[in-house]
Amino acid sequence: MQSTQTAIVTGASRGLGRGIAEALVARKMRVIGVARDAARLEAAAREIGCEAVAGDASDDALAGALLAEHEPDVLVLCAGASPPLRAIHLQTWESFSHNWHVDTKATFAWLRNALLLPMKPGAHVVVISSGAAVRGSPVSGGYASAKRAQWFIADYAREEVSRMKLDLHIQVLLPMLNPSTELGRAGIAAYAKRAGTTPEEYAKRFMPPVTPEVMGRGVCDLLDQPETYKDAAYMTRAKGSGPLARLACASRPSSCRARACSLPRLPGRAAGSSTPRPPRASRCESVPWANRSRAVAASTGWPREPLRRVRFLVASQEGRE
Ligand SMILES: NC(=O)c1ccc[n+]([C@@H]2O[C@H](COP(=O)([O-])OP(=O)(O)OC[C@H]3O[C@@H](n4cnc5c(N)ncnc54)[C@H](OP(=O)(O)O)[C@@H]3O)[C@@H](O)[C@H]2O)c1
Repeated sequence: MQSTQTAIVTGASRGLGRGIAEALVARKMRVIGVARDAARLEAAAREIGCEAVAGDASDDALAGALLAEHEPDVLVLCAGASPPLRAIHLQTWESFSHNWHVDTKATFAWLRNALLLPMKPGAHVVVISSGAAVRGSPVSGGYASAKRAQWFIADYAREEVSRMKLDLHIQVLLPMLNPSTELGRAGIAAYAKRAGTTPEEYAKRFMPPVTPEVMGRGVCDLLDQPETYKDAAYMTRAKGSGPLARLACASRPSSCRARACSLPRLPGRAAGSSTPRPPRASRCESVPWANRSRAVAASTGWPREPLRRVRFLVASQEGRE
């Protein structure tokens, strides 16, 4: 039996968006896929069993019209441009800002309309950002900053939801680079070339890979287990107990109330040593950011303000996408 629930998935014609559309169809939702290439989208829609609307996801008018017409219960913003893959000095401003004009603009357009309408009570919006939003992406122009901006926009929208007392859930998923899609394979090839290795060798660091199926499962887990997945953002992974790893508060360090925030510990001082320990990639537990900041300031003698910067530095030292 067809469920009465409707979902819109942007970027549904291939890659991660297609996996998400398939997962939602499998849970008997009516799914409307959006992508620009009409022929490719329609072929995919026939295989998936969803409807197709060809269009540019960054078009504000299209976003508003589709939300008003279909009143979706679920909106997944997965459409994203393939970043121009070259070093910073070989970019132009146009190439560098490419993802801002697609990924970020689309997130802005859909969330803006979702709030203005507003979407129906209980509706759920999932924004697909990237692990690059945490780790950076030095060969992908403005990709990482565009994906980070998606995350900020989602945070701002969550704040308005609470101010407007709307019953609207907005969350962000951050998948790691993976060889499962065209975009991911191009990225891995570029980073492998830069590292002087083969794409196959380079891809090993992202094993097991995030796949379209893993993304589909991740989105379904957010929808099905709201009590478990209450936070604003989750890393999407293919290992461990499930596809979602908590990633609380990276865009709002000062409001960190997470019981198990997955951000790395700040450097502390080893027992009996005056030298701060090198940063560790372990998890912080139960400590609000302001308290951690004070604690580290006390143990290192560093002034408090630069500690915010240290925290992001630590995150970027974990490795890059
Ligand atoms: N694969 C990875 O390694 C990886 C890692 C982290 C995050 N992500 C993010 O996950 C999302 C999906 O990535 P993917 O790897 O699945 O990419 P992909 O295989 O290149 O698929 C991109 C999808 O987005 C659509 N699209 C692109 N620009 C669009 C636009 N302006 N309007 C409407 N649709 C548009 C494409 O269809 P048309 O070209 O026909 O429009 C296609 O359906 C992206 O936001 C990406 O940044 C991917």
